[in-house]
Amino acid sequence: MNLIKLDAIDSTNRYLKELSSEKDMEDYTIVVADFQTDGRGQMGANWVSESGKNLMFSLFKQIGFLNNEENFYVSIIASLAVFKALQQMNIPDLKIKWPNDILSGNCKICGILVETIIKKNKIKAVIIGIGLNVSQTDFENVPNASSLLNITGTVYDKEEILFKISEYFRSYESMLLNKKFNRLKEEYEQHLFRKDKPSTFKDKSEGLFMGFIKGISGQGLLQVLLEDNILQEFDLKEIKLLY
Ligand code: BTN
Repeated sequence: MNLIKLDAIDSTNRYLKELSSEKDMEDYTIVVADFQTDGRGQMGANWVSESGKNLMFSLFKQIGFLNNEENFYVSIIASLAVFKALQQMNIPDLKIKWPNDILSGNCKICGILVETIIKKNKIKAVIIGIGLNVSQTDFENVPNASSLLNITGTVYDKEEILFKISEYFRSYESMLLNKKFNRLKEEYEQHLFRKDKPSTFKDKSEGLFMGFIKGISGQGLLQVLLEDNILQEFDLKEIKLLY
């Protein structure tokens, strides 16, 4: 592992992406920062985190061995790696909220942002950005967010968690190399938040509808059983799970 430690940066994802465009990058190059001035979240949102308290890092991995349609499996293995690391630390009531938020109870404790590096229409590599709330205690402006400290009363070593996550990532990555797609999808679906429970979603035009999460498609779309008994697949731009 090639670990680059920074005090502050705009975004570890952006920094690593730029670095990889300048030179050949070793797999498992990891950039970790104590503070981000312009942290990136999903769907163009910002990722805001108090200085020094939380784990924020990005990992570079070549994935030329996957077809573009199999790309979602990177999100699956990243979510499972974080999930397993936290499970090993006995963090209670863990779930994966589609596509790749990690919750404890109903609270988000970790967000993951996978960005792709595309050459000649093929995804060659990914930057996997992980933001895990470790010791921040104030989440007044972020509804439904929490941290390991708030949940367990324990202050954890951020670097130890990073190593645990990257170890689990390696073992899941070898499953991916061996094309164990079904096993990975099954394990991910086992931990899916609100699976088979009646749930409320918001659609693109802000309308609310009800449905039951049944799982994900091979491309990572969320499969929802609607009230009229039709199973429909949605991508992240189309719906938001409310509760
Ligand atoms: C989300 O919106 O849930 C995804 C958040 C991802 C945040 C992490 S923090 C480290 C890495 N660098 C970034 O700019 N974003 C990711």
